[in-house]
Amino acid sequence: MADNSLAAIVLAAGKGTRMGGPLPKVLHEVCGRSMLQWVLDAVLDLKPSPTIVVVGHGREEVERSLAGKFPVEFAEQDEPLGTAHAVAAAQARLKGFEGKVLVLYGDTPALRTESLRDLVSACPKGGVSFLVAEIDDPASYGRIVRDAAGRFVGIKEERDASASERAIREVNLGAYAFDGPRLFTELAGILAAPRKNEKSEYYLTDVVGRFEKADVEVAIRRTTDPDAWLGINSPRDLARVRRVLQDRILARHLARGVKIVDPATTYVDWDVDIGEGTVLYPCTVVGRGARIGPNCEVGPFAHLRADAILREGAIVGNYVEVKKAVLGAGAKARHLTYLGDAEVGAGANVGAGTITANWDGRMKHKTTIEEGAFVGSGTVFVAPATLGKGARTGAGAIVTKGTRVPDGETWVGVPARPLPPKGTKGGNSSKEGARPGAGDPSRSGALAPGKGDDGVRG
Ligand code: UD1
Ligand code: MG
Repeated sequence: MADNSLAAIVLAAGKGTRMGGPLPKVLHEVCGRSMLQWVLDAVLDLKPSPTIVVVGHGREEVERSLAGKFPVEFAEQDEPLGTAHAVAAAQARLKGFEGKVLVLYGDTPALRTESLRDLVSACPKGGVSFLVAEIDDPASYGRIVRDAAGRFVGIKEERDASASERAIREVNLGAYAFDGPRLFTELAGILAAPRKNEKSEYYLTDVVGRFEKADVEVAIRRTTDPDAWLGINSPRDLARVRRVLQDRILARHLARGVKIVDPATTYVDWDVDIGEGTVLYPCTVVGRGARIGPNCEVGPFAHLRADAILREGAIVGNYVEVKKAVLGAGAKARHLTYLGDAEVGAGANVGAGTITANWDGRMKHKTTIEEGAFVGSGTVFVAPATLGKGARTGAGAIVTKGTRVPDGETWVGVPARPLPPKGTKGGNSSKEGARPGAGDPSRSGALAPGKGDDGVRG
């Protein structure tokens, strides 16, 4: 059930100049999804009603990235005049709302629901709670300024801080729970005053300062896990937070009985299933949406991309890339192979250097390698192509476009043709009907290089 005493505002209107490139900052991906999606995932667990995302720069792109997946409302900040100004953009949607308002930034993807819950319950009636931490490298965070008695005075941004203030290691992590009505009263005060800081912006941090001056209760929550609150402003920050979220993802799989030989060189996106007993060898990359069954082996140096599905006991070894492909139970592709838009049946063996040529320059096509089939080393399937049940290809075979190698047969050569019975020259004519172009004299003769083979170049 939605919580009517809690609303949430997530700020996502900034350009993110320090990230470089045209992509709105909050859309940069970490472990397979955008920073904003990570933030919203944690926020929506609290079921705030409403949850408002403030958009501005790249508005359409940001809205599209959430459409249909996240139950949020959008408010537009017409000009990026600062974090307080962005909160004000959401005000109209909260008319008459009397509860608490959680305000977060869309660039803190590693935040955790439990800390948000704690922050909300710490918010005093009529007051504010916000999150701080003591960190070694406080640059780019707002500093918590205190008086001689240690009482909170306000938050100073790095660029506005004096040298002594910059030395402060207690920082604002950028998560606030406000008493709703009071938030908008103090916000009005900020927006009415001139912008006196370096960036000439309206700062949300100054709203917190006003709460303090107005003598309402300000509850400061300190966390011992500041990594969960990394604010991402640069590519360097993005790389740091990737490590944090990656460790969390891997820890979850390890706890469920997945063996990860070297977590430091294993890259697994969020939304990946891995069955118990499966081993991930070093330097393995597993993209979002991959489904790996139990007791499989993956890597070293394997790349499972979107929609790779490995059923129980399947093996994907060195330098194998799998994209939108299913490997049936016990199927193996141990070396140097590309399986894209493919289905590999149970127990099939895909030899070293096999390629599914799935892209003809305009469209993707499917390769099917049926149950128990044996693919000789260096085979190329020019898709669409099928290797029937228990069928085999010889080393270096090129199975041309539209071909189906019948069950149990062995085809060899370029283009692949049925293996001639021992002691004969030329192809096995009784099987010619199995492929297009059959009967074309220029194409007969297994093992002979094909003339005019259009499929191979596709
Ligand atoms: C902010 C805080 C700082 C804190 C840090 C924590 C302020 C003034 N400073 O600084 O105290 O230590 O976060 O990570 O709040 N945004 C808008 N509209 C705007 C400006 C920003 O929607 O006009 C959004 C951005 O998209 C971003 C978030 O607000 O998601 C924070 O803005 P950012 O520029 O990253 O603030 P910081 O400098 O990191
Ligand atoms: Mg930031």
